[in-house]
Amino acid sequence: MAEKHSSKGIMWAVIIVAIVLIAIIYPLTVKKSTSAADAAFSGGDQAELRIQPVARFQLAKAEAPAAGGAPKDGPTVYNSVCGACHNTGAAGAPKIDAKGDWAPRLGAGKDALYASVLNGKGAMPAKGGAASLSDDEVKGAVDYILGKVK
Ligand code: HEC
Repeated sequence: MAEKHSSKGIMWAVIIVAIVLIAIIYPLTVKKSTSAADAAFSGGDQAELRIQPVARFQLAKAEAPAAGGAPKDGPTVYNSVCGACHNTGAAGAPKIDAKGDWAPRLGAGKDALYASVLNGKGAMPAKGGAASLSDDEVKGAVDYILGKVK
């Protein structure tokens, strides 16, 4: 009797888990079918479609500064990465439009400034936190700043 009861309990547990899984997955597939990516992948593998939203979201976040493959020019890098701090002076960053903030730093020379950004300095992480930037892209952004403050 007791054994029968517990196997029934397991059966219900399995059914409930299945319902919960369906309830989680179903909205994802519905959302998916209305997204633009669905058009690109129409006819594609359904399982791949279902894991896509998660995978694509993470890629987009990690590669935002380097998306596209081609090297980014100074203004592009500045606006996508550096401006977050240097437009507002967040975290004590020298502001791009405040020559007085930069005057004492310019004396160190361009190479020292490059090195500060490549390696990080104070509250600024290496490469402004965008590790996927190439050294040249970072230098381009420094040049862009220097062009504005000189
Ligand atoms: C998280 C905020 C933040 C981001 C993002 C950031 N910076 Fe900075 N930056 C700072 C801070 C804070 C300082 C001042 C560091 C110090 O002197 O202690 C600084 C200093 C600098 C300096 C002067 C370094 C020196 O030796 O005096 C340069 C040049 C610079 N940043 C360029 C950049 C460039 C180019 C980028 C984008 C690739 C960038 N920063 C992204 C916060 C940031």
